[in-house]
Order: sequence, then C-alpha cells, then structure tokens
Amino acid sequence: MIPFYVAGRPATSSDVLTVRNPGSGAVVGSTSYATPAQIEEAVAAAAAFAGFPSGGSSSAGSSSAGFPSPPSLSAADRAAALDAISRQLAARADEIAALITAENGKPGKWARGEVNRAVSTFRWAAEEARRFSGDLQRLDTDPAAKGRIALVRRVPRGPVLGIAPFNFPLNLVAHKVAPALAVGTPIIVKPAPATPLTALLLGEIMAGLDLPPGMFSVLPVPNERMPDLVADPRLPVVSFTGSGPVGAAIQAAVPHKHVTLELGGNAAALVASDWDDLNFAAQRIATFGNYQAGQSCIAVQRVFVHARHMSAFTPSLVAAVQALDVTADVGPVIDSRAADRIEEWIAEAVTKGGRILTGGTRSGTTITPTVLTDVPPDARVCAEEVFGPVLVLTSVDSDEEGLSAINASAYGLQAGVFTRRLDLAFAAHRRLEVGGVIIGDVPSFRADQMPYGGVKGSGSGREGVASAMEDYTEPRVMVLTGVDL
Ligand code: SIN
Repeated sequence: MIPFYVAGRPATSSDVLTVRNPGSGAVVGSTSYATPAQIEEAVAAAAAFAGFPSGGSSSAGSSSAGFPSPPSLSAADRAAALDAISRQLAARADEIAALITAENGKPGKWARGEVNRAVSTFRWAAEEARRFSGDLQRLDTDPAAKGRIALVRRVPRGPVLGIAPFNFPLNLVAHKVAPALAVGTPIIVKPAPATPLTALLLGEIMAGLDLPPGMFSVLPVPNERMPDLVADPRLPVVSFTGSGPVGAAIQAAVPHKHVTLELGGNAAALVASDWDDLNFAAQRIATFGNYQAGQSCIAVQRVFVHARHMSAFTPSLVAAVQALDVTADVGPVIDSRAADRIEEWIAEAVTKGGRILTGGTRSGTTITPTVLTDVPPDARVCAEEVFGPVLVLTSVDSDEEGLSAINASAYGLQAGVFTRRLDLAFAAHRRLEVGGVIIGDVPSFRADQMPYGGVKGSGSGREGVASAMEDYTEPRVMVLTGVDL
C-alpha cells in the first residue's frame, strides 16, 4: 500500500482508498485515508513548527540575541529544497507522467506537459525564495515623521491547508506546496480522492529531503472529515482549488480565515473582426476546448465569432475538432457521473434549440468532442462550467458585442481574444471581468509564474508562485525612529 505523509513521515491506515483509471476502470494502486489521530498529529506538528497560534515556546529555537522564536528555514535552505524537488521531478518525469495518466486518464502528452510545468513551478519558487526580502519605505515624506523609516517584511500567516483538485494532480498541488516552502510556512495538502497517488509521490520526494518535521503533510482525508479540518484554528490559511459550491461552503464556514478560492469558469474566446488566420484560431480552440477532455478551468467553452467570419470559421472549427485523436488528444472524463452530467447538459442544449455540429456521443467515460451552436445563453453548456469536451459556437455582430457576451457569465477566470488590434486588446483588458486576458490566443494559456485566479464565481485570491506567497503572508512593519536619512 502506498503511504501518505504525516509531518514528513510515511504512514498508512486500515481505511483503504483504491485508485482506478477513469477510462478502463483498472486498479492503479491503493493508499489509505488518514485517521483522525493522524490528522491531529499532522496539524499539531505544523502548528508547532510555525509557533502558531500560541507562540510555540516549547518547540522554539532561539535567535542569536537569545529571544525565543519558532524554528525557521533560511532562504538558502528553502531554495535548496525547492530546487531539489524540481530536479527530482525532472529526473522522474516519465514515471510521474505515466502515473498522472494512469490515475487521471489524461493523454500522455498532457501529463508530460504537466510534469514539465511542475518542474518549472518549483524552480521558479526557489528563485522567489531567494528574492523574498521585504521593502524599505521612507516615512519622512511627512514633516511629522522626520527621521523615521519603515522596514516592511512579509510574515507567514500560519500553516496552510491546501485542498487540491483532480484535473492537474501534480501541478495544482505544486502551486500550493511550492509557495508555502518558499515563504517557510508549513502546509498540509489534501489531494483529490480520485488522484492522490501523484501527490503522494511528491510527498515521497519531499520526505527524502532534510525538511524539519511538521513542514509538510500529504493526507488523503475522507470528505466527511474535511469540515473539522477546514475549521481548525491552527490552520489560518485555506487554499482551495475545486468546484464553486464547495468553495462557497468553505468561505461561509471560515469567514475569519484567509481563504483563497480557485474555482471554475466557462472560459470564452472571441475571434474578432480583424483576425485573418481563421485556421489558426480554429486549431487552437479545438485543441484547448478538448485537451484532457476539457477538464481545465480555463478550457475553451464559449466561442464568440464575428459574423463576418462565421461561414468560413464554422467548418474550419468542426474539421479541427473532428481531426482530434480521442485517445492521444482528449481522453476520458474523470468518472461516469461526470460523463452522465455532460451528456445530460448536451441533451438539454438540444432541447432548448441547440444544434450539434459534431460529436454529442459517448462511450463509457469518453465523450466525443462536441461542437454546439444556436444554444440559448441559459442552457447549462453556456451558463455553467461544463468541464468536458464541449464547445458552444455563437456569432456576434460586433467586437463590442463579443466583449459583452464574454462578460455575461457568472464566472470570470480567463478570456482569449483573437485580435491584432492594439485598441481592442486594451479595451478587452480594461473591460473584461476576468483574472487574465490572453490576446492572440485561447484563454487556456497559463505560465506558472503569472498571477492566476478569477473574479465573480471563479473565486478570489491568486496563484502563480509570487502571488500565492503574498496570500500566505501578511505585511509587518517595523518603524525605526531617529534615523539619519
Ligand atoms: C485550472 O484548471 O484551474 C488550472 C489550469 C492550468 O493550470 O493550466
């Protein structure tokens, strides 16, 4: 049985969690759920390491001046650990990609891409850890503050509870672990029940490093035990990536905590009036509406096309979607419940007047890449997050109407605008209610160092290594008086 990690040490329980491949149903491996006692051990160790919330005097180290303080890792230690993780992920990339494909079902090329991204997430975090210093601010801009200067440092808010989704079993865990290590705050990661094994492999790599006990735990936790863990006062930061309803429940349950929510989206692309390379736009939209079966919060879902392009763009998109290889490019969705829901939503769109241009069929957990058109905006394939290989194509009479259509959504994560016009790019950047606007490409582009997150129903807070480091810390000012500036 594959162990989980309690305060950096491997552990198991008798409560077995069997992981199956979403496509074939074959058993990938078994781990177990942490017991209440093991969860308590992990939380207590994290709190002790952080000296949180009581000051942790019993486990405290001491500063050079002899004042008690919680143990800490130097920037060199943190950066070395992060670099070591990055290197080991790179060295084991084939094995890890195969594990991601086995437990998540995503095609090998997307799994390999995810490992490469995680390598870079940890490497970037090592660089940020070296840079993470604080600011000096002069205060004598006001005559009353003559001779004063402020030192602004960011201090960890306390141990982080990171709750990860199934769709990127490695890199979205990396986006919680790497910033925590970079700022030197402990983290307890709860991987998705469908895909815990990749996170546990990351735990194995971290357990091989010389990290202090309490710095990290990776715990499969049954859903019914999550409310108590989320509410635990020793974990003042909750970083959640997953569905809107669960995110809203977390926010409501712990309004006093620092909660970051990376929730869903129904990402849109606009092919604007000036865009002349329709085949490129069609290829990109076909690929990134269907990659890893559309199970990405920034997979293209809604496609708005200027009316002057519709007759040329539509067959080009349909051909690009039909050219996808269902095994090598798309893959299955995570389970049959997800496939049932997607099938039902497609049927609802058709009932409401939508037309299927291609796809719309299903085999087991694999949904054939589907393009719909003439779908009213209140159909769930438009209004909600499909999280499946479904594109909804709509004509707009102007670029302006296209921007408004993108905003007519309960979500706002990222949007893509195919244009070469600078004025339209700036208008889109100004007007679109999203966390990121991608000009000249699909909304699915993400570089792991850039701020990533949404507005409206897509959540709050930002990931991207430096942004999450800010979320995990808060500024603390020291004002020096009588300084000769
Ligand atoms: C997500 O699904 O929110 C993550 C997308 C990505 O990291 O590319």
